[in-house]
Amino acid sequence: MGTDSFIAPERWVTPDFVVRGYQLGDGVLLAEAVNASFEHLTTFMPWAKPYQSVEESELIVRRFHGRYLLNADFVLGIFSADEGKLLGGSGFHLREGGLAERSAEIGMWIRAEAAGKGLGTAVLKALLAWGFTEWPWERLAWHCDGRNLASRRTAEKAGMAHEGVLRQHSLMPDGSRRDTVLFAMLKEEWERNH
Ligand SMILES: CC(C)(COP(=O)(O)OP(=O)(O)OC[C@H]1O[C@@H](n2cnc3c(N)ncnc32)[C@H](O)[C@@H]1OP(=O)(O)O)[C@@H](O)C(=O)NCCC(=O)NCCS
Repeated sequence: MGTDSFIAPERWVTPDFVVRGYQLGDGVLLAEAVNASFEHLTTFMPWAKPYQSVEESELIVRRFHGRYLLNADFVLGIFSADEGKLLGGSGFHLREGGLAERSAEIGMWIRAEAAGKGLGTAVLKALLAWGFTEWPWERLAWHCDGRNLASRRTAEKAGMAHEGVLRQHSLMPDGSRRDTVLFAMLKEEWERNH
């Protein structure tokens, strides 16, 4: 699929949450969510900082918005049903081949007080449904740090297959290396069950 001719879907709505690309002005919601979640995010999300201002956050969402329109990366926000609160972030990232290969990687974080209640699994299932119906994806992958048991469990609960371990795959800022555990679901597997 040509990246120039693809018009990306914008949103997936469920009774409990809305997943959509970031819009101008979402910086205030992003700042509130990440500032309430630093301790929860810092172990596995290298971008997390103790404090992120509304201005910085607005620049980040503008970059996400621009890259979404250019088909360069599809970063998504997870919003409450009324879109008044950011519950977390996700995305169809193009590190696994991208539009030309019809293959993407789903990333995710859930804000601290909403984590551990089933939301991550529900959002991952929603992204698989959206991804295999309205997007061109034929393969959706989930990569997690081998130590990230919550992430591994979330992929399992969403029905993704465990494909293996890339040993010492990523280099951490402190010089240590981490295994990456790989999960994925194929479009044909999703279709067989829906
Ligand atoms: C990973 C993450 C997105 C999952 O979202 P979530 O809303 O917490 O997920 P759910 O509540 O649907 O499921 C989490 C599962 O992990 C389990 N879990 C959480 N912490 C765990 C731990 N330390 N050890 C083992 N299992 C753990 C929960 O018990 C639950 O499984 P269960 O339903 O069988 O009890 C979220 O925890 C998060 O944002 N973590 C920080 C950022 C991150 O690591 N992102 C993933 C990058 S790949």
